[in-house]
Amino acid sequence: MREAVVNAQDRLDLEELTRDLPTQRIGRRVYAYETIDSTMEVAHRLAQSGEPEGSVVVAEGQSRGRGRLGRRWLSPRSKGIYASVILRPPLKLSEVPRITLTEAVAGARAIQAEAGLNLEIKWPNDLLIRGKKVAGILTELNARLNRVRYIVVGIGINVNSTQGELPPRATSLAEELGRWVDRVKLARTLLIQLDQVYGQFLSEGFGPIVEAWRGFAHFLGRRIRVAAQGRAVEGQAVDLDSDGALVVRTDTGLMESLSSGEVLVVR
Ligand code: BTN
Repeated sequence: MREAVVNAQDRLDLEELTRDLPTQRIGRRVYAYETIDSTMEVAHRLAQSGEPEGSVVVAEGQSRGRGRLGRRWLSPRSKGIYASVILRPPLKLSEVPRITLTEAVAGARAIQAEAGLNLEIKWPNDLLIRGKKVAGILTELNARLNRVRYIVVGIGINVNSTQGELPPRATSLAEELGRWVDRVKLARTLLIQLDQVYGQFLSEGFGPIVEAWRGFAHFLGRRIRVAAQGRAVEGQAVDLDSDGALVVRTDTGLMESLSSGEVLVVR
């Protein structure tokens, strides 16, 4: 039996979100909130108390939504999808970037399917439409002795926000389509895609995910600058390696594998 847990002021139609959801792992339990600080906080608390893999926390709005690299994630009420998913993959710490890329593929597929728009992924996990950011993914983990205990994957999608509610260089699906977008429908598709792509990762490994990721790749082959761990690496973006790290050929011909960082396309 699917278990749906709602807090008293829930406004998302949780029943609609979870009804006959054809997933194996993701969304077996969904915790839906009105406005909270961050779905990441709630998901971490749940995971610490033994919440099973696949549980999802969603909120109508977030007062302290967080993004990568210590940034804020603007989360206007009822305008986006703000979700955190608890995963417990059998991975070593060094393999965690694989999860980020897996979730990016699922997010891109969900948005493409629902909105019919061409999505690109800017490594590692920014989802772009026409070069503007429409969604982001944040991966946080808890580990013990080099093994992952749990991962919380946070996904934020700008759905019905207006340009004034968005940060610079960002867009929303409504801005791109010129119409209101059904968040419940999109959230359902997102949960289904997360379930499928994560399921494929567990059963077949990372190979097919990298392949799918390349299909959405934003800048492979282009000249880029990556700010990574306090230094800048410039060169040609060559490919992803088998761990999902970005391989850059620098001007001296050196191949550098970067497991995290911020990419700027130079030309
Ligand atoms: C990024 O691109 O910087 C990642 C953004 C991740 C935002 C989501 S919204 C749901 C979850 N809760 C948060 O506070 N952040 C993530």
